Amino acid sequence: MIERDKPLAPMTTYKLGGNAALFADVGTVAELEAVLAEAPGGVPVFVLGRGSNVLFSDRGFPGLVVRLGGEFLDIRRDGDVIEAGAAVPVPKLARFAAAEERSGLEFFVGWPGSVGGAVRMNAGGHGADTASVLIDASVLRSREVLVLTPSDLELAYRHSNLSDDDVVLAARFRTRDGVRADIEAEMRAITRWRKEHQPGGTHNAGSVFKNPPGDSAGRIIDSLGLKGYRHGAVSVSTMHANFLVAESGATAQDVYGLICEVRRIVREETGVDLEPELRLVGPFAPPSERGTT
Ligand code: EPU
Repeated sequence: MIERDKPLAPMTTYKLGGNAALFADVGTVAELEAVLAEAPGGVPVFVLGRGSNVLFSDRGFPGLVVRLGGEFLDIRRDGDVIEAGAAVPVPKLARFAAAEERSGLEFFVGWPGSVGGAVRMNAGGHGADTASVLIDASVLRSREVLVLTPSDLELAYRHSNLSDDDVVLAARFRTRDGVRADIEAEMRAITRWRKEHQPGGTHNAGSVFKNPPGDSAGRIIDSLGLKGYRHGAVSVSTMHANFLVAESGATAQDVYGLICEVRRIVREETGVDLEPELRLVGPFAPPSERGTT
């Protein structure tokens, strides 16, 4: 069933943004197809995962936001293959693999996204990425379910060729034999590393910028003395400079404004044009017009 004017902020890790004009929770492929068919022709569609890598505008989203649940939360093992629905949180996928004594998915433990989001952006960290463990993903594209391999998806660093209208339904991952205690020790080490290096427990959306080739966006921003740099109620994390942390009273426009400022300063000081990793779902006002919208 399609709802109207649904607040999006509670469904994102930034806890920011306006309402979706249209919104639907779907639990099966048939329901998803029905909702897509029911939506007025031509409206933009956005599939929301765990909301950990998206910034919605304060003005909201003028189209249909779809959130997957139900059978999209299923996870099962068949030999050395683990299949997970697109809505499965990747830390849950990592823990499921550990309980099954399957190794290779440990790196997912520290990333608060969904399987669908991981495929879409080729999420990674700690020496691995989604492409390195993905066998294939089933994707609904133009009313057809396609099974796409990493090369079909053109997975590269934080990139796939999926369009906004493509819906990842499920993915199959390759695993190898492992010992549960070792897998869990590795996951604990990753969790500890993140606690020490990244601002968990705050309202943020992970890395804001992609790393430029051969360097780290966080290192560059830090080297310019921008930790703690502030725009409205949003500031560059003092723990890791590629994280922007929103405080109480922040707006999505504040985050956008800080992204633009950091990007401008880095470009002017170093010549490097940082590309956002975060999905920005506008409209946003140009930074100079802040406060006028
Ligand atoms: N650094 C600084 N100052 C900072 C932050 C980092 O000097 O404020 C330095 C570090 O000391 C290190 C280098 O920059 O020498 C790289 O930093 P880090 O190890 O934290 O890795 P990163 O490149 O910033 C990437 C991913 C993270 C992932 C980590 C761990 C990107 C954009 N980020 O961060 O992914 O968790 O590696 O593998 O690729 C995400 O994508 O949302 C994300 C958090």
